[in-house]
Amino acid sequence: MSQAYLNGEYLPLEECKVSVLDRGFIFGDAIYELIPVYNAKPFCLEAHLERLARSLDQTMISNPHANEEWQHIINSLIEQSGLTQLSVYLQVTRGVAKRDHAFPVNISPTVFGMTSAWPSANSNMYEKGLAVVTAEDIRWGRCDIKVTSLLANVMKKQQAVESNADEAILVRDGYVLEGAATNVFVVKDGQVMTAPKNNLILPGITRDVVVELLTDNNISLVEQAATAQQLTQADEVWITSSTKECAPVTTINGKPVGTGHPGNLWQKVYRLYQERKV
Ligand code: PDD
Repeated sequence: MSQAYLNGEYLPLEECKVSVLDRGFIFGDAIYELIPVYNAKPFCLEAHLERLARSLDQTMISNPHANEEWQHIINSLIEQSGLTQLSVYLQVTRGVAKRDHAFPVNISPTVFGMTSAWPSANSNMYEKGLAVVTAEDIRWGRCDIKVTSLLANVMKKQQAVESNADEAILVRDGYVLEGAATNVFVVKDGQVMTAPKNNLILPGITRDVVVELLTDNNISLVEQAATAQQLTQADEVWITSSTKECAPVTTINGKPVGTGHPGNLWQKVYRLYQERKV
């Protein structure tokens, strides 16, 4: 039984209970973070805590903890998990109150945390590459906030699964924005493109790391959304997230990307990413 955290207490995950009146349950009125942990050390912790604070600020949920307290919770969860490679999931809801859309006054946020063992390396993902499908982006206008209300993302991911694909790449008005749970990079003639950070995408921490690696290694990058046509004509496509790191996409809607194998530039970025982790 893994240890979790709920409102100041560490307890087995199965014993964590929240009220059905919790606004996270009733309205999806909640935000979250997912932090990868390598060698028992949270990766890019500051950036994750900064995004967590921003999500709370943007949703006007009061931040229940100072950064040092968040760090203490995260480190305690890591220690109690007994694992060295894992992810820490944190969720903050606006709290428990009689159902009413307007923000209730004088309630405290619900704070929940849990750990998951790092999925054993899926070598297929890196050797063969991933399959994706394109799908219409039906999400709201604040995709930059890491909210738990993920119904549109869940439906798009399911659409991918039903097409035997690993991820859905979301396209809005002809532009490639991001995946259902990943950011997207498109490569053509040695030039990398990724959608800019604005209200239409989640500002992925892994995206930031990859952008930094590309910049530091003089690899040409433009932060501009590719068109759906540029996506299908790309030499390489990568998707990034805290759990997938930087993974190559080798088929889109059943058709091969470039050679149909993970590309050379991806190999390089993947190696740089692995070096950055230690
Ligand atoms: N998802 N875009 C979306 C819509 C996401 O949900 C995620 C992450 C990302 C990548 O962000 P990061 O690099 O910070 O993990 C981009 C997480 C992993 C999840 O929902 O489980």
